[in-house]
Amino acid sequence: MSNKPTQPDVMENLSSLLKRRGFIFQGSEIYGGLAGTWDYGPLGVALKNNIKTLWWKRFVDDRDDMYGMDAAILMNQNVWKASGHVGGFADPLVECAKCKRRFRADQLEATLRDKKECPECGGKLGEERQFNMMFQTNVGATQDESSVSYLRPETAQGMFVNFKNVLDTMHPKLPFGMAQIGKAFRNEISPRDFIFRTREFEQMEIEYFVDPANWEETFNHFVKEVHAYTQDVGLPQDKVHEHEIAPGDLAHYSKRTIDFEFDYPFGKTELYGLAYRTDFDLKAHSTASGTDLSYYDEEKKVRFVPHCIEPSFGVDRTVLAVLTSAYTQDELGGEKREYLKLSPAVAPIKVAVFPLLKNKDALTAKAKELHQVLRKEFAKNGSTVEYDTTGSIGKRYRKQDEIGTPFCVTVDFATIEKDGSPVTVRDRDTGAQESVKLDDLVSYLAQKLGR
Ligand code: GAP
Repeated sequence: MSNKPTQPDVMENLSSLLKRRGFIFQGSEIYGGLAGTWDYGPLGVALKNNIKTLWWKRFVDDRDDMYGMDAAILMNQNVWKASGHVGGFADPLVECAKCKRRFRADQLEATLRDKKECPECGGKLGEERQFNMMFQTNVGATQDESSVSYLRPETAQGMFVNFKNVLDTMHPKLPFGMAQIGKAFRNEISPRDFIFRTREFEQMEIEYFVDPANWEETFNHFVKEVHAYTQDVGLPQDKVHEHEIAPGDLAHYSKRTIDFEFDYPFGKTELYGLAYRTDFDLKAHSTASGTDLSYYDEEKKVRFVPHCIEPSFGVDRTVLAVLTSAYTQDELGGEKREYLKLSPAVAPIKVAVFPLLKNKDALTAKAKELHQVLRKEFAKNGSTVEYDTTGSIGKRYRKQDEIGTPFCVTVDFATIEKDGSPVTVRDRDTGAQESVKLDDLVSYLAQKLGR
């Protein structure tokens, strides 16, 4: 029976499991770390690749109206002036006069904020000021105003500035979208909750262009598609919520925004955003660059600047939602265990293959042969089929459970007796073992893995 541990313990137990098993490490760990950065290890990157591949499949490969992009991270500084980021991409900052720690004013407890009291040392907090979150750098050998550039704080602008390139080369008809997956950087005042709020993260974004008359219909379509994607990655639907942003709290470019929130162990908070950005960005870039970013509707014989619906997904927040909801503690065969109940669609290792004993040549030869067959069938995008001979069979099962491998296949003496004999397939969640004939194994696993 599943027995969920208390919520703070989940984050501690989970992050230690993820480190121990090669999913996620502290950034620059051997130098004492760098706040707000995390490194994905071999299993973490496989999980992340699965999450990105499922997104690209749903939103790009399976549609006729979407154009993929991979724009540069460094962009002309005028992009960020026109988009409003240089002037307004800021969070309210307060600093304690005594301990010098800095806090995001809007994340302080209301009473402390009113009393201007430091949550760490009780000292006096200074006046609130706006802190711009963009990382500034200089491009080339000259360090002056003209060489200033920024690490992009969102991937979106890389698509707006390529709107005309896509129009001129692909000749799409409205409605159509541009989609991109890539890194974004924000100098967050207080990075927190593991990979939830970091200074370097990845986004999967769509800028979908429509005739303004149709914005609402498209917005509603993407509400459904966002939910469908959360199902693709195996998120429990009762933990995904919609939160309509009040008109007074909307970003400067948005006329309507829904935040998709998730029940993380540390509370219900933002997973994704869906915004109606109107024609704000295309108009702003048209004016600032002097390039016409309008669209000519051949049928209606009218020229206008399209409006934009933007679903924006955080990769790392998806990884965290997937991992926190998959983390499970239970008892199996009278022993306590902790494991990742990952959906097969995202599991880094789809199947593990073992010989029952590692010192019997006939067993290892058959297991290795089977490993190659299964690898051809099930290894994709960094997800693998693993061959393991370390420790006892019980230990191997335990390790595969911890890393979320849905099925383990054991080659034993019965398997090598004659052609077509069975292997034992063990199910991660129940521990149940089933005898499956070698000839039926690929189709059996394909069906179980949902392929
Ligand atoms: N282009 C719109 C945009 O960037 P946003 O709400 O600021 O909107 C979109 O960010 C998504 O990016 C968020 O819903 C979240 O998933 C992810 N995200 C934003 N800031 C993040 C951070 N500091 N760490 C990790 N993910 C972040």
